[in-house]
Amino acid sequence: MPTVMVIGASRGIGLELVRQYAAAGWRVHATTRTPTQPGALGAIKGDVVLHALDVRDAQQLETLTQEVAPEGLDVLIHNAGVAGRGMSAAEVHRINTDAPLHVARALLPAVLRSHEKKLVLMTSQLGARRGHPGSLGLYGDSKAALNDAFRAHAPAWGQRGCLAIVMHPGWVRTDMGGAGAPLSVEESVRGIRQVLARLTPADHGRFWTWDGREHPW
Ligand SMILES: NC(=O)c1ccc[n+]([C@@H]2O[C@H](COP(=O)([O-])OP(=O)(O)OC[C@H]3O[C@@H](n4cnc5c(N)ncnc54)[C@H](OP(=O)(O)O)[C@@H]3O)[C@@H](O)[C@H]2O)c1
Repeated sequence: MPTVMVIGASRGIGLELVRQYAAAGWRVHATTRTPTQPGALGAIKGDVVLHALDVRDAQQLETLTQEVAPEGLDVLIHNAGVAGRGMSAAEVHRINTDAPLHVARALLPAVLRSHEKKLVLMTSQLGARRGHPGSLGLYGDSKAALNDAFRAHAPAWGQRGCLAIVMHPGWVRTDMGGAGAPLSVEESVRGIRQVLARLTPADHGRFWTWDGREHPW
């Protein structure tokens, strides 16, 4: 079976990604900031390996890279993110914009060792400028900057054989999305998995939604 790594798997969409991939028989590497107290993540049955990672921690990222060095990662999903309430713009940028790029760069060799070679960065529709200048707010700006950085790196990643995309998971009922969001984590993740399963090289470098629509930048 293929192997997936989910970065930021303690709760919400990341937790459900682990649950569904494990239930489908995949080998799952899941990262959490609290591997000794994994909560619901620790109760998931299947071939699930937990790793410690705060995405701001370069030393933990180096350790994670070494832990998976003997393996390939068919699908790497950088899911960790923050809404930014009560945080500085610099801290939100560090987690939502810089960290996905650092993680992608560190784990790209493991992705390229695999069969599927897919890399997914979780973004948001709130980071789509649609050609308009000006601020999208703290969170939107951090995701817009992630999208910009992704587009800058995608050509080089594609040349190395990677199939990389950014993904909007929908507006989902999680701690971040809130109780009023229309989508359950089950529906969102089922959609995300279908989109990822159907990706072809022609989809590389593009912005996809959980239900298979291409999103404008
Ligand atoms: N929910 C939505 O409607 C929605 C819409 C568009 C995009 N998204 C994006 O989808 C992704 C997942 O969202 P969600 O709704 O599942 O959010 P969530 O329920 O708030 O969960 C966020 C996850 O990110 C992890 N995380 C936060 N900061 C981290 C750090 N410094 N290092 C490592 N992990 C960290 C959290 O771990 P801890 O438990 O340790 O804090 C948690 O596992 C995010 O990138 C978000 O921006 C969500």
